[in-house]
Amino acid sequence: MKMVGTFAEVRDAAYGSVGFVPTMGYLHEGHVALMLEACRECDTVVASIFVNALQFGPGEDLATYPRDLDRDSQLAKRAGVDLLFVPDRDEVYPDDEIAAVELPDFAGRLEGERRPGHFQGVATVVELLLTGIDPDRAYFGLKDAQQLALVNWLVGARRLSTTIVPVSTRREPDGLALSSRNRYLKGESRVAASALSRGLFQAADAVEAGEADGPTLEGIVSAVVADAAGIELDYAALVTSDRFEPLEKLEAPAVLAVAANVSETHLIDNVAFFRGEDGIEVDRGVVLERPSVLEEN
Ligand code: PAF
Repeated sequence: MKMVGTFAEVRDAAYGSVGFVPTMGYLHEGHVALMLEACRECDTVVASIFVNALQFGPGEDLATYPRDLDRDSQLAKRAGVDLLFVPDRDEVYPDDEIAAVELPDFAGRLEGERRPGHFQGVATVVELLLTGIDPDRAYFGLKDAQQLALVNWLVGARRLSTTIVPVSTRREPDGLALSSRNRYLKGESRVAASALSRGLFQAADAVEAGEADGPTLEGIVSAVVADAAGIELDYAALVTSDRFEPLEKLEAPAVLAVAANVSETHLIDNVAFFRGEDGIEVDRGVVLERPSVLEEN
């Protein structure tokens, strides 16, 4: 694996079909799953590590966002990444004047409403990374379902030639969706956080048993989270996967998107519904057999 800092170096070193995994670092098995999928499908795999200040709001955790480049490069190398792209701010944003992409309405809902400016920052950096690298395929986790919807919209709206590949959420053995921010969860907070996936899994069970009413499914998650100590539900919303339109009755593709706060930490998660051969099927993500690298210390 080669570490590079410029778009020109990435383009010079890449050959054949190029798979791209954008990250903000502090890698875990969720990122590794994206990298492995990229390795399976592409000749050259590029992963980026760039903590994008533009997508953090005032009062968010930009200064404390976990960073560990040594550990990240070991994980990326082991996953089979060919090029680890670690640009500085000027490489990504050469002009102070950044032409902001005008976002669709759905980017203002749910996470967009809670985190003003967040999706603007995500769309801006993703467009710059995709145009700078020009990969054939780019891999995004389903855990950030609204981000994934926005990236799909962006690729269509800006006529980018990259195919976006969604990859299922990876989870700790107790169900907690992997996120670099799980590092903030210790002791009781860590225990409390698992209520979110417990609620989602109960809602998924209800769908598999035939429940299709949106408010009922949202209510199942709310009830489980309300029963747990130390966690406060922010929202539970059954929405379409592509535009995050609210759904009264389940149809596919859709996501049951949830968010909760545990102390200062804002957690998001979801289960996704898609149309399979026998009707609506549920993607709950992949539960790891052993605790992830995030639980190591
Ligand atoms: O999902 C993330 O880690 C970030 O939002 C992304 C896509 C790398 C953009 O900074």
